[in-house]
Amino acid sequence: MSMSKGTVGLIGLAVMGENLALNLESKGYKVVVYNRTASRTEAFLKGPASGRDIVGASSLDEMARLLPRPRQIILMVKAGRPVDEVIEQLLPLLEPGDILIDGGNSHFEDTERRTKKVEEAGLLYVGTGISGGEEGALKGPSIMPGGSQRAWCVVGGMLKSIAAKAGKDNDEPCCEWIGPGGAGHYVKMVHNGIEYVVMQAISEAYLLMSSLLSMRAGEIQTVFDNWNKGDLDSYLMEIAASVLKKIDPETGRPLVDVISDRAAHKGTGMWTSQSALELGVPAPSIAESVMARYISSLKAERESAAKTLPGPTPAVYGKDGFDDASKPRIIGAIHDALKGTIICAYAQGFAILAKASETYSWQLNMPSIAALWRGGCIIRAAMLADIMEAFDRQPDLPNLLVSPVFRDALEGVQKGWRAIIALAAQGGVPVPCFASSLSYYDSYRAARLGTNLVQAQRDYFGAHTYERVDREGVFHTDWTSEE
Ligand code: 6PG
Repeated sequence: MSMSKGTVGLIGLAVMGENLALNLESKGYKVVVYNRTASRTEAFLKGPASGRDIVGASSLDEMARLLPRPRQIILMVKAGRPVDEVIEQLLPLLEPGDILIDGGNSHFEDTERRTKKVEEAGLLYVGTGISGGEEGALKGPSIMPGGSQRAWCVVGGMLKSIAAKAGKDNDEPCCEWIGPGGAGHYVKMVHNGIEYVVMQAISEAYLLMSSLLSMRAGEIQTVFDNWNKGDLDSYLMEIAASVLKKIDPETGRPLVDVISDRAAHKGTGMWTSQSALELGVPAPSIAESVMARYISSLKAERESAAKTLPGPTPAVYGKDGFDDASKPRIIGAIHDALKGTIICAYAQGFAILAKASETYSWQLNMPSIAALWRGGCIIRAAMLADIMEAFDRQPDLPNLLVSPVFRDALEGVQKGWRAIIALAAQGGVPVPCFASSLSYYDSYRAARLGTNLVQAQRDYFGAHTYERVDREGVFHTDWTSEE
């Protein structure tokens, strides 16, 4: 039997907590687990944890006694109030130098506040993003830790050992210190914002293929599988194909066809959009992907509006100019729109990170963040290697869109991207992410927009002043005077 590398506590045995405990144990750590409902701990110890170096604590007090100092305790409890409650209960049981690690999807401002509070008590706090879902937690997630810098030299080795590995030789841990305070949870939040766009964009590709080309789930699956073997190689592409393959045992139909289109959410995409708005960073694709979920949930309103609101007569595949020759062209254009939109998602995510880094003095390391998203997390994608390289080459890159590799990629897709949006608009098929991403791209590359008129109107009704293109200064005009 190998020597234990150390002992770590873990609180919260929902599926992510359980899997993380198993992952830690498999890497040589002894794990002391605690769950508020004791029966859950028992079931875990008798079930997946049996025969492993995992022990249960019947109280937080017992957990504190079982852990060597400095204690390292991972909290895998629901984000929000429950995290504060556990911290309240733990603080009197712990001693200076002990380390609390929150591995949930906490809001970064909560993590800022908790880091201060825990540090004031002489302890250390790590707020860490953990991405990869259930399987990632078990086999290797992507880990984004931030908080008390001093904790990193204690917990870094452990976190790196359980993280996914990426890189040429598959030996680079997808875990790196992100920054102080709430930086780790912030980066995880932006990860989720990007995740929302990629998922919405893939669903728009699916909707276009099913509504414009009458393609069935199985046929779309083949297309997605092929894309996943090429430049769109990514986890979300892979699972979208896998989803389309699944047959509902009750009806014998593709399961996706019997799933309600009301999309739920737990708030991280909304937080990303809120933060972008507050920081003044344009991130329309991320906001649009959140809005797309909101409008999807207005099911009853949509069903009633579907009966009254006019739209174009939908073009039908096989008629209306669509023939077998146009089908591959349309599928190619959908691919291009998807690729362009995904590039915009990452571009906006990294632009938010850059502004947040400056605003909160976090000194985020962009190549390192791109590197740790290459494996384990939900947005892992072949494209991240290019993103990492783009930031490596130019750390102060103002926006990913202008890096040579993405400039070339955008040149390759823009024609198809535009064509499919025109077709979608003519056919009345909603593609909010594809369309808003293209507008983002076109706005970003426009040396002059129409917003001079906005400035003129602001000055007209509110004397808000404006600047001129031909000389320095701030100007106001009396717009209604005769001269
Ligand atoms: C991850 C996921 C994970 C969670 C999503 C779901 O990185 O492992 O992002 O954190 O499943 O937050 O979010 P929604 O319920 O908001 O879609």
